[in-house]
Amino acid sequence: MARFDTQVGIVGAGPAGLMLSHLLHLRGISSVILEVRSRAYCEERIRAGVLEHTSVELLREAGVAGRLDREGLRHEGIELGIQGVRHRIPFVELTGKSVTVYGQQEVVKDLIDRRLRDGGDLRFECGEVSLHGMDGDHPLIRVQKDGDVDEIHCDYIAGCDGFHGISRSSVPEGVLTLFERSYPFAWLGILAEAAPSRQELLYMHHERGFALYSMRSPRVTRLYLQCRPQEDIRDWSDDRIWNELRTRLSCSDGWHPSEGRVLQKGVTGMRSFVVEPLQYGRLFLAGDAAHIVPPTGAKGMNLALADVYYLANALSAFYGRNDLAPLEEYSRTCLRRIWKAQRFSSWMTSMLHIFDDAGPFDRRKQLAELDYVTSSRAAATSLAENYVGLPLHT
Ligand code: FAD
Ligand code: PHB
Repeated sequence: MARFDTQVGIVGAGPAGLMLSHLLHLRGISSVILEVRSRAYCEERIRAGVLEHTSVELLREAGVAGRLDREGLRHEGIELGIQGVRHRIPFVELTGKSVTVYGQQEVVKDLIDRRLRDGGDLRFECGEVSLHGMDGDHPLIRVQKDGDVDEIHCDYIAGCDGFHGISRSSVPEGVLTLFERSYPFAWLGILAEAAPSRQELLYMHHERGFALYSMRSPRVTRLYLQCRPQEDIRDWSDDRIWNELRTRLSCSDGWHPSEGRVLQKGVTGMRSFVVEPLQYGRLFLAGDAAHIVPPTGAKGMNLALADVYYLANALSAFYGRNDLAPLEEYSRTCLRRIWKAQRFSSWMTSMLHIFDDAGPFDRRKQLAELDYVTSSRAAATSLAENYVGLPLHT
């Protein structure tokens, strides 16, 4: 058995774990990251694509936005489509802020690169992780691989291991309260080798189901279709996907999505989920380990970054001036932001998707909501303010 000592043991090398480790390093606090997957897997996993203004500022302040500033696509608004007619929500005009399209895996690559250049201790393909002693003063993370056992002794553990990780489930039963909602649909997403033929994202409400036109770079588009939760991707040939995208996304002015080779495709389930509190003794949960939002509000990765911003500040208050109050407030501070993101994400989801069980009243109400958001400056400003990201202190 090998023993290692660090101040903060971090489980998971997603955006939350990597950013936390980097922010701690900037404040002179040591950490070890334990990641079950390989570096290549973490760097290639296609997921979120939109960074809030708030997240871009955070990455800039942390000195890890060099490539993001060069390659990220700055978007000054989005478009909402209602049965083929587009309406623009001009973020900059309404809020003075924009968002940046930059793939999550690029954020992950940048953070891994920086952590390694700074001499960070990142252990990919680490083996089986278990957490111990979180309710005492000396927690430890045990890692078992090929018959060997490592023990990481630390002051605090950060559970940044996503929805399916072990951190949340290591908390004894009865401590955490779960709040959850599932949706009767999923998203079928593709990545296509096609130059984007629109400047901005298009969220389309269509009677056959929601569709989203997004992008990753000047040569790659990202598109999604509302589908059944149990949809088998093998039933969806590339032709069938393009047909459906064309049907749902084409506009009355003749615009239709540019098409190209499908590079990747998959089905992602939708759920809203929060645990309270985000703390058990010396274990702090952050990112998808603590909450999941449906992707319609583009909030998942942004919330993960906000959590670890608060956690890094709180840990720094403890190590720097022996002030425990921010750590004790961590859960409450994060939850205020998390619930606002939950509200926004579920509102966007309800407004834009087709619910098979909706009666005529709900259907009319949904169309009125879309009409209101696209015709009232006050309503559009509320959407814009949430989409670009609420300030970090609220
Ligand atoms: P993760 O990125 O999940 O990172 C957790 C890390 O922990 C992973 O690297 C994992 O391998 C590791 N891990 C797990 N278990 C263990 C263990 N036992 N031991 C050690 N390591 C472990 N959000 C959007 O806004 N838009 C989208 O389009 C979108 N698409 C998504 C598609 C999919 C398939 C998924 C799953 C999520 C998507 N999200 C999207 C959500 C967004 O990607 C997440 O909110 C974001 O990844 C959260 O970051 P995180 O660091 O908290 O968790
Ligand atoms: C994406 O580009 O993957 C994306 C964009 C906006 C969303 C969700 C996903 O709301």
